[in-house]
Amino acid sequence: MTDVVWAAGRLREPAEPVVSALDPGLTTGLGVFETCRVRAGRAFALTRHLERLAGSLAALGLPAVDPDEVRAAVAAVLAASPPGTGRLRITVTPGAPDAPTTTGAPGARPVLVVTAGPAPVRGPAHAVRVPWVRNERSPVAGHKATSYAADVLALRAATRAGGNEALLANTRGELCEGTGSNVLVERDGVLLTPPLASGCLPGVTRALLLAWAAEDGLPVREEPLPWAVLDEVARGSAHLGLTGSLRDVAPVHLLDGAPVRPGPLTERAAALFRARADADPDPA
Ligand SMILES: Cc1ncc(COP(=O)(O)O)c(C=O)c1O
Repeated sequence: MTDVVWAAGRLREPAEPVVSALDPGLTTGLGVFETCRVRAGRAFALTRHLERLAGSLAALGLPAVDPDEVRAAVAAVLAASPPGTGRLRITVTPGAPDAPTTTGAPGARPVLVVTAGPAPVRGPAHAVRVPWVRNERSPVAGHKATSYAADVLALRAATRAGGNEALLANTRGELCEGTGSNVLVERDGVLLTPPLASGCLPGVTRALLLAWAAEDGLPVREEPLPWAVLDEVARGSAHLGLTGSLRDVAPVHLLDGAPVRPGPLTERAAALFRARADADPDPA
């Protein structure tokens, strides 16, 4: 099943060129993107993803996109997508090297691309510690920039080690996040997730879990965690989970190739997230 592609105003053949050779999105990785889960033919939590997209564009000094245009493109892509479509990606690049760094210059239009295809088949979460760090002081920390090569290589290393997600520390030696997921550590009857100051992405799944857990009486809170907390997970005195659009809330079953037991609160969080997500396709 090939991806359905909408770019610069209309549906396209998947292989059709749509980006200029001079687009900074291509030449320097200056662009932003969002990945949404597609549930029952709808892009889950699209409003939250569009809000984060707007924040990422502003943070990178790129012109805003019209949310109605993005919604129309998303609708066109999903209408053209076969059953079994599980993921949707929205990408925005500046289009031209002299595109304005703020909104408003006539004629300069960012390039909007929306694609959809099957969700990756992953199975249980298998996490691998990698030696690289997330720089929490980077200007793109906390934003979903297309400059993703470091994450691709980290994930590739994790895959070579038999995993399907890489775990990154930040420069302060704290647990930060995965390449495409936020982390949860279950310890002493509480689920803990690193705060945004750790440099992690403000994950839509993470934020929804924090809100829904609070309503449900499930103890989840933000707290800085030392990287060494993963040794506790390896010893079995703590448990690990991942949150992300293409994983929902996923208890980790293998750490660095060794079995680790999913925690009961992590399992509860996974069930809570599934139920709430099924009940509301676009939670406020
Ligand atoms: C680096 C990073 N952290 C966390 C996440 C999880 O965010 P979300 O729950 O919005 O998918 C992602 C998503 O792709 C990501 O790329």
